[in-house]
Amino acid sequence: MDIYQAIEQDHFIQKKLLEKIVATSGNSEQRREIFEQLKSELAIHADAEERYFYVPLIRIDKTQDDARHGIAEHHEIEEMVETLVDTAFDSPAWLVHAKNLADKVKHHLQEEEDDYFPKAKSVLSKKQSEELADQYLNEMNDARKNNSD
Ligand SMILES: [Fe+2]
Ligand SMILES: [Fe+2]
Repeated sequence: MDIYQAIEQDHFIQKKLLEKIVATSGNSEQRREIFEQLKSELAIHADAEERYFYVPLIRIDKTQDDARHGIAEHHEIEEMVETLVDTAFDSPAWLVHAKNLADKVKHHLQEEEDDYFPKAKSVLSKKQSEELADQYLNEMNDARKNNSD
């Protein structure tokens, strides 16, 4: 597996959770559970992706700007998650914020897959992309284990 496939797998998980979250309502068990999962998936993915995708790319001229932009978007996403944390589950504003978050994350994933992956493939070797995948997957496994403890 290469880093692109490893990241795409987790983007798929995020997309499914985003679809589910915008279909929830009120202060329901379902909304609270899905939000917990989404919050955790977004945070651990952003950390591992920065370490094993963006950091290698930030060192290379051709991909430096994209890497910076991607990391900046992680911070914007983090702030949008915080807004949701600060909004009562049964407030009508909750779904509005959740939809904004879903749009933002979907745009971000699309940009990574459509714009950054092709550029990264032109600067990282196959071997590098496989080594990065191993490291990325290890970190994701550890983080998921820690979060479920
Ligand atoms: Fe990202
Ligand atoms: Fe990503």
